[in-house]
Parts: sequence; C-alpha cells; structure tokens
Amino acid sequence: MSTDHRVEQARPSVPVSGRHATAVAHPNIALIKYWGKLDEQLVIPLVDSLSMTLDVFPTTTTVRLGPAIGTDTVTLNGMPAAGEQRRRVIAFLDLVRERAGSTEAADVETRNSVPTGAGLASSASGFAALAVAAAAAYGLDLDRTEMSRLARRGSASASRSLFDGFAICHAGRGSGDAADLSSYAEPVTVPEFDPAMVVAMVDRAPKAVSSRAAMRRTVETSPLYPAWAESSRADLAEIRIALERGDLEAVGEVAERNCLGMHATMLAARPAVRYLSAATLTVLDAVSDLRKSGVPAYATIDAGPNVKILCHRTDAAHVAETIRGSVPGLSTVTAGRGPGARLRPGVGE
Ligand code: PMV
Repeated sequence: MSTDHRVEQARPSVPVSGRHATAVAHPNIALIKYWGKLDEQLVIPLVDSLSMTLDVFPTTTTVRLGPAIGTDTVTLNGMPAAGEQRRRVIAFLDLVRERAGSTEAADVETRNSVPTGAGLASSASGFAALAVAAAAAYGLDLDRTEMSRLARRGSASASRSLFDGFAICHAGRGSGDAADLSSYAEPVTVPEFDPAMVVAMVDRAPKAVSSRAAMRRTVETSPLYPAWAESSRADLAEIRIALERGDLEAVGEVAERNCLGMHATMLAARPAVRYLSAATLTVLDAVSDLRKSGVPAYATIDAGPNVKILCHRTDAAHVAETIRGSVPGLSTVTAGRGPGARLRPGVGE
C-alpha cells in the first residue's frame, strides 16, 4: 500500500476552523472497468480498474460550514438537489463528520460541466471534488491513499479522479475493515503516454438504470460475470505493459474488449441491462471503419450510451469529424489527460 506523504491538494490553504473549501475535479474514463461490488455498504469493487483522468468537464464543489447553517443543504447546478442525489451527498457528509468528530451541518454547492448521470463519469468528478472539499472544510488531514478510500465511499470511480493522468483502483479483499483498507486508488506513472479521448455525446439524458442497481443485478444474475471478472485480471496486466511501452494500439485493443465484455455481462443479466443504443452501435461501426482505414481508434463505453474513443492526438480532429458524420446531430468533445482533484487556492476562511 502507498504510504505516501500528505497530499498538497488535500489540504486547506489556511488552518481550518470551520469555514469553507472549494475543490475542482475532472472525470476519469476507465480503460479497465470497475463493475460489481464486493461490499455495497462500503462501496468496495470486486475487480481492479484503471483509468485516464480527463482535462474536460470539471466539477467545482464548495463546502461551507458555519453557525448559520442549521441543516445540510445541497445545490447542484444552481438547483436544490433532491432524492437519491441529495441522499448520497448527505450520507457522504455524515461519513466525513464521523471521522472529524463533528456534528456541524454543511452547505454544499456543486457545478457540473458534464451532463449528470449520463454515463459521462459525473459521479467520479462529483465525489472526488466533494471528498477533497469536505475533508478540507471539516479539517481532516488525509494522505492520498486515505483520501482515495474516502472518495471511494461516494463512488468507487471517484477514487481514481484524485490523480493526474492514469490511476488504478484496487479491488477489495476479505471483508469489513480489511476489505476497506485493501481498496484504494493510486497513480500509474506513464509520462510518455499522452493520447486523446474523443467523447461522442450520443445522449445527454440521465440513464434509466443507475450503475449501482445495474452492477448488483449483473453480479447476482449474469452467468457471464465471473468469466469477465477473471479475464479482466489478465486485461489489466496486459494494459499496464502496453501503457509502459506507450503502445496506443495495444492499450486500445485491451480497453475495447474489456468494455465490450462488461456490457456482455449486463446483457446476460436477468433481466438484461442494456445501455447501448442504436446510435452507440453506429458509433462503434464508425470506430471500426476508422481502424480499417488505418487510423488507430478504440472505443470504450460506461453505464450509458455515450462512447469515448481513444486515439493519437494527431488523429483526434479526423476521428471526431468522422464520428460526428456517423450519427446526425451528434456532438463530440476532445479530451486529453487531465489533472487530479485539488483544492482551489485562496479559500478556507
Ligand atoms: O463509480 P460508479 O458507480 O459511477 O460506477 C462506474 C462504473 C463504470 O463507469 C461503468 C466503469 C468505471 O470503472 O468507471
């Protein structure tokens, strides 16, 4: 386990005596997917995952404490959050308060620049920003391993958004505290590998089935799940070697098959979970046509119909144009590797 020094970005800029902190986090896209939980309560993945943090779609979250705040308030993009979204944020605050020995209510204000809940990793950037801001506001001094375990409790993919570039989130082993301690994220250092990721916005609407519910159903009912989880271990070993070599084609091949395998497990669940739409499949065809024409481009898809295409930066404009041409009205955003979550300087008191 990493026993790294304290993380600068996890610290408030002034000593915290109950005030406010603002953090910015970016989404990450998994090349080796996390799908399935060992422990739902503690949000512990059953499989290792590996991702690239993006430089687009930041989430900015401010957590304010103070005597005037009587009960928790949660605002998302200027509107009061309701239902499950509000419940998850408050449950997360409770966890931070428990660790900080505080009972103070908080005012949480979040701005997402990515559509929320559409399989575009808004929960990753959202809970990474919330973890960093809430830890600072409540005065928790965490190293990056502890911070990643805290973010994981909001959403396991959020643990990876704490890090620049590439990160791995370890599956848990054992049960209870041992499982909790064994599941954390850490950076994967591959300075030479600097690809583009073209995000094809097939549909911005929130998904019909949450990833949480879909994972549970897949693990409980899909006969394909154990085989995918097993093959995912080999995929991870292979992709790490390919990343170190800076071999985009090998990285892309493993990422695409890992993702299609994950969707196969969902399609075999009872009843099936299907996030792939007709437009998703059309984009997959366009990606495979790009490859036939000699352009290395590889797709990955999360819990939604949107497709992210990994390619060389020099090919990104051509890839984006080809993908836009494949589905009427489709828009794209081209991302590169981005920064880990950090506190915005100059806040605290
Ligand atoms: O962390 P969650 O609950 O948003 O689940 C993320 C699951 C996938 O996006 C499909 C895969 C991943 O590893 O990010």
